[in-house]
Amino acid sequence: MKKTVLIININRSMNNLFNDFLNYKFPLPQYLGAKYKHLNWIKGFIPSDVNIVADAFAGSQSVAFFLKQLGFQVFTNDFMNYSNQIGKALIENKTEKLSEQDINILFSDNKNPKQFYIMEKLFTNMFFVREEARMLDSFRSNVELLSPIKKSLALAIMNRTLTKKITMGHFAHHQALVYAKDPARIKRNKSLIRPIKEMFLELVKQYNNAVFDNGKNNKSYQGDAIEFVKKLKNVDLLYLDPPYCGSHADYQGFYHLLETFVENWTEKDKTFVNGIKRYEPKLYSGFDTKKDIINSFDKLFKEAKKIPYWIISYNDRSFPNKEQMIELILKYKNVEVADKEYVNGVAGKGSVKGSKELLFICSPK
Ligand SMILES: C[S@@+](CC[C@H](N)C(=O)[O-])C[C@H]1O[C@@H](n2cnc3c(N)ncnc32)[C@H](O)[C@@H]1O
Repeated sequence: MKKTVLIININRSMNNLFNDFLNYKFPLPQYLGAKYKHLNWIKGFIPSDVNIVADAFAGSQSVAFFLKQLGFQVFTNDFMNYSNQIGKALIENKTEKLSEQDINILFSDNKNPKQFYIMEKLFTNMFFVREEARMLDSFRSNVELLSPIKKSLALAIMNRTLTKKITMGHFAHHQALVYAKDPARIKRNKSLIRPIKEMFLELVKQYNNAVFDNGKNNKSYQGDAIEFVKKLKNVDLLYLDPPYCGSHADYQGFYHLLETFVENWTEKDKTFVNGIKRYEPKLYSGFDTKKDIINSFDKLFKEAKKIPYWIISYNDRSFPNKEQMIELILKYKNVEVADKEYVNGVAGKGSVKGSKELLFICSPK
C-alpha cells in the first residue's frame, strides 16, 4: 500500500471564506476537551472547496459554532443530549431569543411537581442547597412551556450556569458545597456563592447575542457518531474530535447531572449510583475505552469514506497513538499531521503541559 504521510508544523494560508459572522461571540464554555482555543489553527486546514460540514463529536459546540460563523452549512452531533441542546440553541437556531416574558415563565412555580422533582431529590446537599435544587425542578418543568428552540436555549443557558456554579465545572466530585464555603476558592471563583438566577440572567444576554442566521439550514442531532455519519449526504468536510481515550474520556461521569436535568430522568428511567448519583445504565460510546476504540474508529472511517475531507483533533497522549491512527486512516484517506504544543494545561483535561494537540488532515486518495 502506498503511504502518504507528511508531518507539517505550520498553518496553511487561510481560506478566503466569507466571514461577516465572526463578530458574534460564542459564550465561553467550560467543557473538557473543548477546542475554542484552537479554532483559527483548525481553520487554516479547511480546504477552499468546502461548503457543507459536519461535526460528529460536538461537545460544547465551539467548533460547530465557528464553522457556522465561517458561513458553512453545519450538521452537528453528540451522543449527549445536553450538547444537542446547545446545538439546537446556537447552531440550528436562526432568530429565537429568550424574552423577559420567557424568563418570567421559567422562574415561576413548578406546575408539575409530580413529574419534575429529581434535582431536589438527588442533588440536595450534594451540589445544591435544597432551595436551589427545588428552583431547578421548577425551571425544568417550565421549560416545557416554551417553543422547542427556546426550550433548548433555556436548557443550554441553565446548564452553563450550573457548570459555572460548581467547583471545577463538572459533577464528578462530592465537594461542591464544601468548596463553596472555602474562602480561598471563593476568592478565585465568585460564582461558587452567586445565586443561580443572577448568573443565568447574565448568560441570557451572551447567548441571545450569539443567535444568528448564516443563511444556511443548520441542524443539530443527538446520537452515536457512527450512526450520524452513516446518514450524512453531500457533506464536504467531516470534523472529528473524539474523547481522549486513556484520560478523562468518560463524559457521562463528568456531566451526568446535566444529562439527568435535560432528560428529566427519574427512578423510572435510571438508577442513580455512587456518591455523585450518576445515572445507570450509561449510554454506549465506543470511543472511551481501549478495548472498543480501534474497532470504533475503523467503523467510523469506513462510513466516512464518502466524505472527501476529514479533520481530526487528537492528542499525542491518547490511545491509539499517532502512528496507529495514521495506519487506521490510511486504509481510507491520505493523511497529513499538524501539531501544536501546549504551553499550559488550561485547554481541558488530557491537554496537559508538554502534550501536543494534533490534527490529522485527511483527503481523498
Ligand atoms: C473532546 S469532546 C468534543 C469537544 C468539542 N469539539 C468542543 O469543542 O467542545 C468529545 C465529545 O465526544 C462525545 N462522544 C463520546 N462518545 C460519542 C459517540 N459514540 N458518539 C458521539 N459523541 C460521542 C462526548 O459526549 C464529548 O462531548
